[in-house]
Amino acid sequence: MDLRSYLEKNVAVIDEALALLLPAQNTYPQIIHEAVSYSMFAGGKRLRPILCLASAEAIGKESTAIIPVACALEMIHTYSLIHDDLPAMDNDDYRRGKLTNHKVFGEGIAVLAGDALLTQAFEVLASYGLSVKDKDKSAVMCVINEIAQASGSQGMVGGQSVDLKSEGKSIDEATLTYIHRHKTGALFRASIRSGAILSQASKEQLHAFTIYAENFGLAFQITDDLLDIVGNSQKLGKPVGSDLRNEKVTFPSIYGLDKSKWMAVQTVEKAVEALRYLPGNTEPLKLLVEYLLKRET
Ligand code: IPE
Ligand code: IPE
Ligand code: MG
Ligand code: MG
Ligand code: MG
Repeated sequence: MDLRSYLEKNVAVIDEALALLLPAQNTYPQIIHEAVSYSMFAGGKRLRPILCLASAEAIGKESTAIIPVACALEMIHTYSLIHDDLPAMDNDDYRRGKLTNHKVFGEGIAVLAGDALLTQAFEVLASYGLSVKDKDKSAVMCVINEIAQASGSQGMVGGQSVDLKSEGKSIDEATLTYIHRHKTGALFRASIRSGAILSQASKEQLHAFTIYAENFGLAFQITDDLLDIVGNSQKLGKPVGSDLRNEKVTFPSIYGLDKSKWMAVQTVEKAVEALRYLPGNTEPLKLLVEYLLKRET
């Protein structure tokens, strides 16, 4: 299986669905819809929705039906990036190869674009719940609950809060672990588990997905931190050196570059290991997590 063509195919599927789910740019008030579309279609990797679809495939289920759920996850992720880049947070000027949302639309509209995307995500999830057969509704409720928890103050928002409040401080390993598990790990975990839950995964299978997901999230954030040091801003589409400038505590700042790289390798191995308990096509999930070790974007 070729990962590149798998990604290209799925990015196209997600982008097409996102364009249908979001209000058109010329919908009144145009400014907010333009701002939302600007960040949404700036060229993200779409990892979270792709992981959601790939998880359905790893159970042996057709993933087309759950595309709206996958799109909702990307909306929440994009909202988190718009807010993460604000002057009050990381104060970054570039994202996905373009000026950040607030640089183009101003801070007020950037805050609102994030708010709009987060709200739209839950509208999409709820209307997906309304569209499925009665026997499938409780799984959708379960997923909405899971995604809400992963996004809120005990999930991503919690992680971002500790990340922000730890700037310039020396924190311990437990706090670093809390930050990455919540600011990044929680949404990856929810993306993968959502695909599994909607595909009627058994308790044991869901456990395997969870182990895969938690290791995916950890490996992803280690490589994100490494790329902030050794990456190429042109390729990344976002600045390097942002963590250093903001005095963030990161994996390399605590463990150094070599140990962080080694930790990423170990973590990817654990994720791959968990896949052997799944009955469907696990090749996409395997290649996706292995790709983290070589990614440049
Ligand atoms: C970057 O996420 C932000 C973090 C959670 C560390 P991605 O690297 O998935 O960003 P896009 O969606 O491809 O732009
Ligand atoms: C951001 O983490 C995580 C979220 C947006 C929730 P980072 O601040 O490390 O992400 P980048 O490096 O700006 O993409
Ligand atoms: Mg940040
Ligand atoms: Mg940032
Ligand atoms: Mg980063």
